[in-house]
Amino acid sequence: MKKVEAIKGFSKLSKSAKVAWVISNHFKGDKEALQLLDTYTHSDGEVQKLHDEFIENTLSNFYMPFGVAPNFLIDGAQYTVPMTIEESSVVAAAAKAASFWMQRGGFKTEVVSTTKIGHVHFVWRGKDSEILQQIIQDSYQQFIGDSEHITANMTARGGGVKSIQLVNKCDLEPNYYQLEAKFETCDSMGANFINSCLESFAKTLKRLVSDASELAEEDKYLQILMSILSNYTPECTVKAWVECPINEINEGSMPNDEFAEKFIKALKVAEIEPYRAVTHNKGIMNGIDSVIIATGNDFRAIEACVHAYASRSGQYSSLTHASLDDGIFKFWIEIPLSLGTVGGITSLHPMVKFAHEMLGNPNAKDLMKIVATAGLAQNFSALRSLITSGIQKGHMKMHLLNILNQLEATDTEKEQLVEHFKNKVVSFSAAVKAFCDLRGIEQPKKEAR
Ligand code: MEV
Repeated sequence: MKKVEAIKGFSKLSKSAKVAWVISNHFKGDKEALQLLDTYTHSDGEVQKLHDEFIENTLSNFYMPFGVAPNFLIDGAQYTVPMTIEESSVVAAAAKAASFWMQRGGFKTEVVSTTKIGHVHFVWRGKDSEILQQIIQDSYQQFIGDSEHITANMTARGGGVKSIQLVNKCDLEPNYYQLEAKFETCDSMGANFINSCLESFAKTLKRLVSDASELAEEDKYLQILMSILSNYTPECTVKAWVECPINEINEGSMPNDEFAEKFIKALKVAEIEPYRAVTHNKGIMNGIDSVIIATGNDFRAIEACVHAYASRSGQYSSLTHASLDDGIFKFWIEIPLSLGTVGGITSLHPMVKFAHEMLGNPNAKDLMKIVATAGLAQNFSALRSLITSGIQKGHMKMHLLNILNQLEATDTEKEQLVEHFKNKVVSFSAAVKAFCDLRGIEQPKKEAR
């Protein structure tokens, strides 16, 4: 690989100069590489400018498919759910589960709570933490008053600061304390709001301690480490579930009681075995992330939070559960989801706006319900395949087009080969063989994958 000289001030270059630098230094000036960046650049300059300004050093755009899974019946309302994801079988699996459960009463949901949390992490070497505790408790209105310029709009919308308290963590780390604050951020995810409040609380705290007459002079020094929201939001959770009589659970490939028994056992495995739980939850996140991305939310925050939540007992475990009681099969998920339907890129990105409009412009609570449902639906489809036909049958069918595109098959060839595999098992080598047979050419010795 060619050694590329480090560059200073790259971010200050114009966009075309950045592109020229990358093409010259990493692609030996290749015109095709330049053309690729050009092809993926939006033809409407205004739209492109919007995308350029989302981040720094934008060279072009990165396309992901935007698909929809129709027929989601959630609490009696019908949704067509937007999904942005590259994995072939995810949208199909969600749509299949949606149709299946639509005929059995649909999905039910409940937002359990919407409290978000953040901390001022600080060091205090004072002798008596009870005095510090009392100062903070007595000064609640000072914290609130000092941050009023930040909270006024949120308070008017029904949100704001819910509580502020001292947490003593000295048993874990000498002299380490937190000012823990809880918030309600209504329809915004609230990261900027929370962080701004916390930075204000940090200043108030420092002032209160340095002015406190109850503290000895040597106890008045307090060092702020950082003020930041937590993406772990175990008090911002939503439940989604489906249920039906056991005699309606399957569609014929297996007796109903055997299906339910295998399904519940498969869930037990995910509850007790972290190796399975990670894959199981990854499948859930296929559904969740794709809706999160399509609706302009922060999938990294959601991922970090959900996996921490899955480990809250001390062992990583399944996010979904199932039961069979009195002949009723029930399958549910309960997860933390801190989402926004205003702010961020929700009102900027044209496709995100489209996704919100298609969902009927949901508020944050409604979006929590939709996202949790997408995760549950995805998991239902995955488990149903896993315990019946196996996952590869459906997965490889959906992947077939990717393989054929890799082989540069024409549209007519693709049609013929999809037909050919209708009742056959797809594998990479079987697809290559069928493609070569169709073209009447020899199979390549070394297959690209
Ligand atoms: C693949 O992206 C997701 C699955 O592995 C999930 C699962 O195993 O439950 C199919």
